[in-house]
Amino acid sequence: MSRTHATTPTPRPKDAQWRSRLRRRLFAWFGRNARELPWRGTTDPYHVWLSEIMLQQTQVATVESYYPRFLAALPAIADLAAADEETVLRLWEGLGYYRRARQLREAARQIVAEHGGVFPRAFDDVVALPGIGRYTAGAILSIAFDQRQPILEANTVRLYARLLDYDGEADATAGQKQLWAAAESWLPRRDVGTFNQALMEIGALVCRPRDPDCDVCPLADLCVSRARGTQLGLPKLKPRRQRKQVRTVAVVVRRDAGVLVVKRNGEDNGRWPGLWDFPRFDVPREASRPRLAALVTKALATWGVRVALGERLTTMRHAVTHHDITLECYNAECSNAECQAIEVGEDIGRPRPQLRWVRPGALADLPLNVTARRLADLVTESSD
Ligand code: ADE
Repeated sequence: MSRTHATTPTPRPKDAQWRSRLRRRLFAWFGRNARELPWRGTTDPYHVWLSEIMLQQTQVATVESYYPRFLAALPAIADLAAADEETVLRLWEGLGYYRRARQLREAARQIVAEHGGVFPRAFDDVVALPGIGRYTAGAILSIAFDQRQPILEANTVRLYARLLDYDGEADATAGQKQLWAAAESWLPRRDVGTFNQALMEIGALVCRPRDPDCDVCPLADLCVSRARGTQLGLPKLKPRRQRKQVRTVAVVVRRDAGVLVVKRNGEDNGRWPGLWDFPRFDVPREASRPRLAALVTKALATWGVRVALGERLTTMRHAVTHHDITLECYNAECSNAECQAIEVGEDIGRPRPQLRWVRPGALADLPLNVTARRLADLVTESSD
């Protein structure tokens, strides 16, 4: 038996009438409420692709400043393909999830090598590019070429689960299958890119996670969960992994005019590959100061750098995917003659990883992760 009043039957998302209402309402609402964003209004596939990659794990407000700066520096796919990795990482610095930047550059090189520098139009060619999955391919092809491709990302998962009152785990295989199928069945014949962006926009602005604004939602009377009052509990997602508490030490190793930096190769849980960093080590949470000094000294000695750990500069707290990190930053003096003899700016070629002494002023040119940049700013200020 239906729990709703006889005059307000439960919406039926499988009906043709429901779908045509959905499209009409969405287009009308988007026309009036779409935010003006720098990537709206473009159908250049390079621009759309870049915006979608930046938006994958980053807030719209942050992307708004990075996107135009990136395009000003690398205005065409060929420029991105020809840029060196450090240039691309420096443009990405602060956005996080740096694998996206490296894959973007690899994909540009692939487009130049395999498609004559022209962004491909075939779905299979697009998903074959590094860093592009089903969602991103659908978004690019619908927005740039008006192809009939559905989309499913965080905002639309929530919107679709609520419209359908889908109460299985929305991110499990069965849930994804159902939601993709629904998205596909709702697509209009044309203006597919606008339709998809309208879905994302209503998900972001109205169908919000904790406080959906059903009173202003143009889809309210089409929404099954609204009719049943279940919207706040949706979408159901698979249980999250517990966050891990981690204690890390970063060391500013100094030697007359230089500080020591290390190029990360992804060895540390794949964090920040390709970025430069201060030497940084995870340490036991309960380690005493003498034990810390011993651990750091030993770790640096394996790279051929002998140090005496000095005073603590600062402590930072930051979060990386499933980790909450307390980062203690120390000064240290380099004491071995061999390292002393190496010129500032020169690589210490052995052993791995790649190490370099740089003048503090040169830190501005290197791509650094967020906490290394904060530490670099401290070092630069204190050596001015
Ligand atoms: N999130 C992912 N893609 C987006 C887009 N094109 N506009 C706004 N938010 C988005």
